[in-house]
Amino acid sequence: MRFKDRVAIVTGGGAGIGRSVCVNMVKEGAKVVVADINQAAAQETADSIKKEGGDALAIKTDVTQRPDAQAMADAALKTYGKIDILVNNAGTDIKGAITELTEKTWDTLMDINLKGVFLCTQAVSHSMIEQQYGRIVNISSMAGKTGEPLTSPYCATKFGVIGFTQSIALELGKHNITVNAVCPGPVDTDLIRQSVAQSAKIKGMAPEDFLQEFFINPTPLGRIAQPVDIARAVIFLASDDAEFITGSTLNVSGGREMH
Ligand SMILES: NC(=O)c1ccc[n+]([C@@H]2O[C@H](COP(=O)([O-])OP(=O)(O)OC[C@H]3O[C@@H](n4cnc5c(N)ncnc54)[C@H](O)[C@@H]3O)[C@@H](O)[C@H]2O)c1
Repeated sequence: MRFKDRVAIVTGGGAGIGRSVCVNMVKEGAKVVVADINQAAAQETADSIKKEGGDALAIKTDVTQRPDAQAMADAALKTYGKIDILVNNAGTDIKGAITELTEKTWDTLMDINLKGVFLCTQAVSHSMIEQQYGRIVNISSMAGKTGEPLTSPYCATKFGVIGFTQSIALELGKHNITVNAVCPGPVDTDLIRQSVAQSAKIKGMAPEDFLQEFFINPTPLGRIAQPVDIARAVIFLASDDAEFITGSTLNVSGGREMH
């Protein structure tokens, strides 16, 4: 039980990777605040945890809105008395060629994937500094290490998450707060299904052919990830097994990304 008496907030905890992080952290003893813009999805995650005897609180949170980020932190403090772990997981992707991308797409991705990480980190930082303990894990991507065609705004946000991770690790280390990033390759979630459909359409390919050619074939381990593959890495970095690791990025990509 690596998280006995620990309190975690997971943004985007209503689906995909975030849901797997919530469920598996609770199995390690954590109390989890499931923060998601989709209230029904957040509630579904919390209910499934409670059904198994775990402790979870669902809160509707749009990570792009400062008052929501603050309300999320306040709810955790009010309900559980502290915040030990923040997983900045909420994110989305919209594909497009540079000649076609709109400013709205750019702003949407910057707001959710990058500004959201800033706002939620800031919202928990005061109480983590006060208690001189914290574990922050940001979900970047292999697209935060190497550029991808049709993916320029998403890549820019995910590179940004790594820069933010390193900077905050430098700032908060003296308070016993670690800040790390996980860089998944393609993961079997709604997000990747939508991304593959968009990219395949632009390239005039069938989605399953695109997935095979661009995601599965170049991966040494020969498959895309399941959400739990990513959750295990997040849990490691959020646990005291990783107490001397900060400012790091951990690739979880089946060997697809190696630097
Ligand atoms: N799926 C992949 O292949 C993959 C690969 C690399 C990185 N990632 C990253 O992992 C993270 C999770 O992705 P996923 O695949 O689980 O996606 P998903 O679409 O399955 O789930 C994302 C969750 O985030 C929530 N969300 C979206 N906007 C939000 C907002 N403004 N505020 C709060 N919640 C919001 C959604 O409601 C949803 O529940 C993202 O940051 C994504 O960029 C995913």
